[in-house]
Amino acid sequence: MRPLTSLGALSAIASVAAAGAPSAQQWAERSIYQVMTDRFARSANSADEPCDPYKYCGGSWAGIIDKLDYVQDLGFTAVQISPVVENIPDNTKNGEAYHGYWPQNLYSLNENFGTANDLRKLSKELHKRGMYLMVDVVINDMAQVVNGSSTHGEPDIDWSRLVPFNDEKYYHSFCSITDWNDPDNSKNCWFSVDTVALPDLKTEDERVVSMIQEWAKGLVGNYSIDGLRIDATKHMDDEYLTSFGEAAGVFTMGEVYTENTDAVCRYQEFVSGLLNYPLYPPTIQAFTAGNMPGLAERVRTIHSQCKDFTRLATFVENHDTPRFASLVNDTTLAKNALAFNILSDGIPIVYQGQEQHMRGEFAPFNRAPLWNTNYDTQNPLYNTTATLNTLRNHAIRLDRDYVPTHSKELYVDGSTYATRKGAEGSQVQVVSVFSNQGSTGGSYELVVPGAFAPGTEAVEVLTCARVTADTAGRIVVEMDAGEPKVFFPLKKMPGSGLCGFRKRKTALCATGKGNTTTTTTTTPPGGDNHTTEETGYEQASSGSEGSVSVAMVLLGVFAGVVNWCL
Ligand SMILES: *[C@@H]1O[C@H](CO)[C@@H](O)[C@H](O)[C@H]1NC(C)=O
Ligand SMILES: *[C@@H]1O[C@H](CO)[C@@H](O)[C@H](O)[C@H]1NC(C)=O
Ligand SMILES: *[C@@H]1O[C@H](CO)[C@@H](O)[C@H](O)[C@H]1NC(C)=O
Ligand SMILES: *[C@@H]1O[C@H](CO)[C@@H](O)[C@H](O)[C@H]1NC(C)=O
Ligand SMILES: *[C@@H]1O[C@H](CO)[C@@H](O)[C@H](O)[C@H]1NC(C)=O
Ligand SMILES: *[C@@H]1O[C@H](CO)[C@@H](O)[C@H](O)[C@H]1NC(C)=O
Repeated sequence: MRPLTSLGALSAIASVAAAGAPSAQQWAERSIYQVMTDRFARSANSADEPCDPYKYCGGSWAGIIDKLDYVQDLGFTAVQISPVVENIPDNTKNGEAYHGYWPQNLYSLNENFGTANDLRKLSKELHKRGMYLMVDVVINDMAQVVNGSSTHGEPDIDWSRLVPFNDEKYYHSFCSITDWNDPDNSKNCWFSVDTVALPDLKTEDERVVSMIQEWAKGLVGNYSIDGLRIDATKHMDDEYLTSFGEAAGVFTMGEVYTENTDAVCRYQEFVSGLLNYPLYPPTIQAFTAGNMPGLAERVRTIHSQCKDFTRLATFVENHDTPRFASLVNDTTLAKNALAFNILSDGIPIVYQGQEQHMRGEFAPFNRAPLWNTNYDTQNPLYNTTATLNTLRNHAIRLDRDYVPTHSKELYVDGSTYATRKGAEGSQVQVVSVFSNQGSTGGSYELVVPGAFAPGTEAVEVLTCARVTADTAGRIVVEMDAGEPKVFFPLKKMPGSGLCGFRKRKTALCATGKGNTTTTTTTTPPGGDNHTTEETGYEQASSGSEGSVSVAMVLLGVFAGVVNWCL
């Protein structure tokens, strides 16, 4: 429901991260699948009624657990779920709180999605697969249905129903946001005052700060959460965000809903990472409206203005934006946008259903249940997502400098954008050629300069065709029907699981320089300390409900620190 989310900056957080919590760098190496719990998967034994898009439709945490193979086979290494706390129970003129953005009691879970055990189990199942759990949190306001009731224009709120902020003293006095870009107005006034009022927390108040800190610690600890997305980051006090992140002790991803690069990047001081809203409009423009140079230009701007591009999360769709297919009905364009989504700099975030080319435009229609697609693994976009995530994971496994190195622009014209990503001097280089010609695009040869070291043989991973770089390092790319092209050196393909090369068999968690050891550890219930990672391909063995024994492959010297394996 909230149109906003924020990304966090990580430096502050990294230094105070709880022992064992994944670092900002580890998060930067992940690829995140965004789930709206109510609309992702129903529990196996649940009813099969059609979904009213304004109401709860039956998706649950148990449903997510049942479908983790689907997510993992897509190559994702982290899952972000919608808010988990108890929301207002009412049906309102704007529907029910199926999305989770109308919190009523922070100390209780939303029982529509399952029990505390289900949530802990989801976390545990993800960790067994070496995946991270990110939970979306609403810490800017609480919610109450008012349906138009008011006294002198001010909604009548029963404060006692809001937990733990159960008194008017914890809130900003009533006013409605009138200027979304004015920091004072948008931080101190209420997001919504009609139908569902969202009383705005007094985030500069010491009591509110310490209460939210205590809650953050409890939430993260009780459910072994690896990262938090902070909804409506732009609407909160800087200090509040910082102290929240410190208390949570995990990576925080802020949602600052604006295209303004400076305005977004300023928040890198207060949160670990940020959704890359400045990149979003040019991305859509590039792949739906023919403006490829505009995208290349925005990438350059962000590289120069943002302290750390690796902690910005790239997306093409989310629950607040129109789905790509609602803007342009062309699978090939969607494939290019997806390729950019996964292979450009930063943390890829893909919204459930993007891999199925779902069409909804505005909420709630961009939140249609994924089960309507039968989780079709034959969808061409499913294949593209899986292939490109697999390639990115492979590149990171081979070279940890892959992620921190900014991509280089190799070539741009009105319909094409070619980049190379990989550390200088390393053979691990991904050359991507994005096109916006669409499925009616012609067949032609494009010469891309500076692709690889002279004479390098490379594989185009979406078709498995091969090319060889000439003596100047150029490659000739066979462009056809608007398809994206992605090249990787042939020599580095073994272990990738792509184009006939076998998947890596063992769970290696580092660049291979170190000493690998296998060891076993036992973690208390809910106490996974994130040292038990596995590859995306082979599951670690698991123990009983109460304790998990996991065979860990650790880099000897750094035992207890390694948790970035992909
Ligand atoms: C609010 O209005 C909706 C739609 O008119 C109605 O169904 C609902 O019962 C009302 N809820 C409350 C709490 O008044
Ligand atoms: C975490 O668990 C403790 C112990 O059961 C409980 O007191 C606390 O309220 C929980 N916190 C949250 C946010 O769920
Ligand atoms: C989208 O394109 C496909 C294939 O060209 C066509 O079958 C379908 O009807 C189109 N859908 C919409 C909503 O335009
Ligand atoms: C993608 O499709 C190709 C060609 O059909 C197939 O060989 C490959 O295994 C698929 N990849 C994934 C990850 O599903
Ligand atoms: C690897 O670890 C083993 C056992 O601790 C040790 O004997 C060996 O010297 C180490 N090898 C390297 C290359 O560090
Ligand atoms: C975390 O991992 C370390 C090192 O592997 C281990 O010694 C410790 O017991 C673990 N802690 C918990 C709470 O599982």
